[in-house]
Amino acid sequence: MSLSNHQPTPVAATAVEMVATSLSKAFNNRPVLRGINVTIRRGEIVAVVGHSGCGKTVLLDNLTGLLQPDAGSVRVVDHSRADRPLIEMIGLDSDRKDQIRLHWAIVFQHNALFTGTVYDNCALWLREHTTLNERKITARVREALASVKLDVDDVLHKPRESLSGGMAKRVAIARAVATDPAVIFYDEPTTGLDPVVSGNIHELIWNTHNRPRQGGEVRTSLMITHDRELLRRLSPRVVMLEGGIVVFDGPYERFLLADVPAAKQYLEHMPALNARPAE
Ligand SMILES: Nc1ncnc2c1ncn2[C@@H]1O[C@H](COP(=O)(O)OP(=O)(O)OP(=O)(O)O)[C@@H](O)[C@H]1O
Ligand SMILES: [Mg+2]
Repeated sequence: MSLSNHQPTPVAATAVEMVATSLSKAFNNRPVLRGINVTIRRGEIVAVVGHSGCGKTVLLDNLTGLLQPDAGSVRVVDHSRADRPLIEMIGLDSDRKDQIRLHWAIVFQHNALFTGTVYDNCALWLREHTTLNERKITARVREALASVKLDVDDVLHKPRESLSGGMAKRVAIARAVATDPAVIFYDEPTTGLDPVVSGNIHELIWNTHNRPRQGGEVRTSLMITHDRELLRRLSPRVVMLEGGIVVFDGPYERFLLADVPAAKQYLEHMPALNARPAE
């Protein structure tokens, strides 16, 4: 059953959320991104796919300003302003970048939970970036943990080290959800997880995407994945990287039939890539 067939897709505003133009990045003179052009529209679910090492995480890091590209442009919507202007990220000072990033959340490939309890992990951002008092923060954290189907009373005060892989991934998603982001990035949210946990995460991504933000705005979701079942269920727009460029960009249904040798070969390799250990 496809999640996308039995739930409404959000009214996709056609406004642009993020545009990368001629984006290039090399490490030690070895090019990884060689002129990426991609436009993400508000309300879209986009999956970035491609062989291991092809540059998916490097692309995400360039889009989110964690890495500085060698050439090209990344324009993003500034949700801190009512008129939602598109702003060039490259060259912004770190305070201004942080201001833009306050409206995004990133679920990292290895979760990036810090030492401390589940509550500490989910509450920190709210303490630092909102005026909510601790009682309201607790309520928000509990709601976020419940939304990822965790037993809130059981996990709230558990230390990071005691979580299973699937629980840690849920906590990482709950931490992101608690911030009510306009854009949510996921780097391999189901890699190395068993099919049942993965299935739950597919639903979480879908439900989070379709839950309107406070104020009723749609969210944009961008994920990196090797999970064919995730693609089948969410039916996102697929952007495939190969050799440092975009070799396919279109609906999942077309990706399956695309006359692109790299895509055909990659589709065969997806199950093995997705099964590899997450760490
Ligand atoms: N900080 C860095 N310094 C040097 N090389 C790097 C750095 N970060 C990434 N690379 C290289 O860039 C290439 C792309 O890496 P990236 O992590 O984006 O791959 P990926 O497509 O996300 O792969 P996977 O599916 O395994 O996560 C790799 O060859 C990697 O070794
Ligand atoms: Mg990666």
